[in-house]
Amino acid sequence: MFKELQKINKRPALYSQYTAQALWDDEYISTQMLDTHLDDSIDLASRSGEFMARSAKWIIDYFKLGAGVSVADFGCGPGLYAEKFADSGANVFGIDFSRRSISYAKEVSQKNKSNIEYQCGNYLNFKSDKKYNLITLIYCDYCALNPDQRKTLLSIFYKHLEDDGVVLFDVYTEASFDMKDEVVMYDENLFEGFWSNEPYFGFLNMFKYDEEKVVVDKYTIIEEKRIREVFNWLKFFTLQTIKEEVALSGFSVVDCFSDVSGAPFDKESETMALVLKKNN
Ligand SMILES: C[S@@+](CC[C@H](N)C(=O)[O-])C[C@H]1O[C@@H](n2cnc3c(N)ncnc32)[C@H](O)[C@@H]1O
Repeated sequence: MFKELQKINKRPALYSQYTAQALWDDEYISTQMLDTHLDDSIDLASRSGEFMARSAKWIIDYFKLGAGVSVADFGCGPGLYAEKFADSGANVFGIDFSRRSISYAKEVSQKNKSNIEYQCGNYLNFKSDKKYNLITLIYCDYCALNPDQRKTLLSIFYKHLEDDGVVLFDVYTEASFDMKDEVVMYDENLFEGFWSNEPYFGFLNMFKYDEEKVVVDKYTIIEEKRIREVFNWLKFFTLQTIKEEVALSGFSVVDCFSDVSGAPFDKESETMALVLKKNN
């Protein structure tokens, strides 16, 4: 028991495990995730319905989406943005590794006869002959990747972007890193049954890595017959550090906002949204 508690409370080595698929694509958890995506009132999995409507409208206007424009939405979830982009007349592609989200997205697009192609898969392995005018990655998914994965994803964006195309993505700021405190939490059925339909005990240990500006939420879920660890890493950026990072992959930041609804840039805000172009 003492040893188990020591293990649960031990700070993991930075980026020691990547368990994103266990978080998003688990048979049971993905049902909870889908409900959360579709709950209009909360900013979890997807942002609130009000924010997404405002954000999609801004993206459509700002990037002039419409007939003849192609958009690829990476980490599209159940297609909430993709559907709105398709309403503008754009050709839309969405990729996500959650089978449940993609199957929901496909059902909706068939029902609405939307011009959207969906692919279920890991975007870190994405390959296609197609190039897009706009590539989006929304709700700070970039922050959940380790440095090698971020480099891989930027090179995938580079390969699949038209020469005059743009990338839009959002990240957490160092201002929001500074607001966070390390957390230890324990609860029976942590988050009210989110992790399993069997009884369980759940621990959340949140650790900060001050030098690297990274946070991990480490969940330990203990059921009668299994123990699972799920790690949710998040990297926080300043405008300078994200500019330097994307420059190494051949991109320049050509515009920045506080969020993906086009709010004016403020370095104190929780997120920033970046528009990237290729350095040709
Ligand atoms: C925070 S959610 C955001 C969903 C959507 N962009 C939105 O704003 O409504 C992140 C999404 O990225 C997906 N995802 C995370 N890592 C992925 C990967 N490596 N490959 C494909 N999809 C991934 C998850 O399944 C999830 O649907």
